Amino acid sequence: MTLTHLNACPADEFVAAVGPIFEHSPWIAAAVVSQRPFASREALHAALCDVVRAAGEERQLALIRAHPDLVDREVRQQGARLTAESSREQAAAGLMDLAPDDIARFDRYNTAYKARFGFPFVICARRNKKEAILHAFPERLTHTRAEEIAAALEQIFEIARLRLEDLLP
Ligand code: GUN
Repeated sequence: MTLTHLNACPADEFVAAVGPIFEHSPWIAAAVVSQRPFASREALHAALCDVVRAAGEERQLALIRAHPDLVDREVRQQGARLTAESSREQAAAGLMDLAPDDIARFDRYNTAYKARFGFPFVICARRNKKEAILHAFPERLTHTRAEEIAAALEQIFEIARLRLEDLLP
């Protein structure tokens, strides 16, 4: 894919290509169609992130909640499907074949985090390996809800940056 093509293609094709930059949230790509053409990949990324920043807290929470837990129990036990991007990201962090005691630690942290904040823990799995993630959990559990909404969105922007670099090498 090229930026030149994305700048000129039909709107639905743009949304189909750029939509998956954000997990289960194509409304973000749809909101920037009218801002084309974008001068660079970075300009497109900035426009997408601005849509999220300008969205109300309700839609920001919906975006955060669209993310799967890392090392999700249901995914492992019931074979629930991850998006292709999520599978790749969790594999990059070394989360696909953990020992049982690490799986139990992720379960406890995921449960504690969701009980405290009401949304899943989001960290850019391609930028943070297993140990860094297990280190971040207890630290972020001490934050306020507002701090964690902001932190989750920053991580989602980083996830989106890497996905966009994959789309537009
Ligand atoms: N949930 C927590 N971190 C991540 C991530 O990096 N990617 C996805 N898809 N979901 C997550």
